[in-house]
Amino acid sequence: MEKIKMAIVGAGTWGLNHARIYHDHPFAETVAVCDTDTSKANKLAAQFGVKQVYTDYREMAAKSGCDAVAIVTPDYLHADIAIACANEKKHVLIEKPLATTYDDVHNIIDAVEKNNVRAMVDLHNRWNPPFNVAKQAIDNGDLGEPYSAYFRLNDIKWVATDLLPWASKSSILWFLGSHSLDTLRWLTGSDVESVYSVSREGVLKSLGVDTVDMYLTTLEFKNGCIAQMENGWITPNGNTNVNDMKCSILGTKGQISIDTSSHNVIQKVTDERATTPDILVNHYVDGAPKGFAYESIRHFVDRLIDGRKFSVSLEDAANTSLAILAIFESAKQRKPIEVKY
Ligand SMILES: NC(=O)c1ccc[n+]([C@@H]2O[C@H](COP(=O)([O-])OP(=O)(O)OC[C@H]3O[C@@H](n4cnc5c(N)ncnc54)[C@H](O)[C@@H]3O)[C@@H](O)[C@H]2O)c1
Repeated sequence: MEKIKMAIVGAGTWGLNHARIYHDHPFAETVAVCDTDTSKANKLAAQFGVKQVYTDYREMAAKSGCDAVAIVTPDYLHADIAIACANEKKHVLIEKPLATTYDDVHNIIDAVEKNNVRAMVDLHNRWNPPFNVAKQAIDNGDLGEPYSAYFRLNDIKWVATDLLPWASKSSILWFLGSHSLDTLRWLTGSDVESVYSVSREGVLKSLGVDTVDMYLTTLEFKNGCIAQMENGWITPNGNTNVNDMKCSILGTKGQISIDTSSHNVIQKVTDERATTPDILVNHYVDGAPKGFAYESIRHFVDRLIDGRKFSVSLEDAANTSLAILAIFESAKQRKPIEVKY
């Protein structure tokens, strides 16, 4: 069987995870790496034996002979690349968020439809095991009708101050809010009708990163469900886990509560500090990459091979981005806003 030929645009932190999966997958290979920073592209290519290296994604899409492109550039730099690759008849796996403006969201959908290519956005919390157990309990009626929900997804300051050089050009709503909002849409089985959000800023600005610290958002869904969503990136660097993730979903007959960041499954303590190591997102078993962050990428390859639908549709990703745009507007105006689809 022919392998799916992948190309990766963006050889940063997450581009490495894409390369690991295409390397591990028996029916995929990375044929090209592209990064505007040549040294990063060369380093990733050398690590996985990739022969083609580019600095221009248009040239890469036209010349590399790839079947599909993984777009792993900063949050606000997905749209032009996705559209250019679709226009070259390449399937696309776009890192979350799909796009950060209303026009970009719709232009990507138009390009994908016009060129008859396949597109998936890596909203990978849909592969997170406890959330799948929750979804299955909802679908088989254990909880009754979804009634209300709470989702808190925060990062420690280090993510904005040290990990992401482009944090001030993005937002915690794009970086983490896209996961929590997509998960809430998925669990409640509905799209967001309207939002009311308040925000605070100052902590990260005082540390030299010009971005909002935190959003507290009330969501009203089209099916009547209501939810509270908290997204910030100013939790203390001393937290035992980079993430602070808590979710509870209440139905008319039951409730599920999830805490993936301060669980007691494993604790690691050294003379310097205590940590709660990740057991769900990405780790290695017998030398192979495992965890839900890898499963979503593997899913993209598997569905290209068997032709079945992606578990997260382009419409899911589009409606998530459009609801987030309403949250920005609400936080700015300090009043409820209807989502414009
Ligand atoms: N699925 C997830 O949960 C998850 C986790 C982490 C990051 N991400 C997403 O992955 C994306 C990348 O994040 P990251 O942490 O790897 O960032 P990063 O800064 O480590 O890497 C981004 C890379 O893109 C390159 N780049 C920028 N513009 C480019 C262009 N026009 N052409 C080619 N290369 C270009 C940069 O030089 C950089 O090497 C973001 O959208 C982020 O939200 C997703």
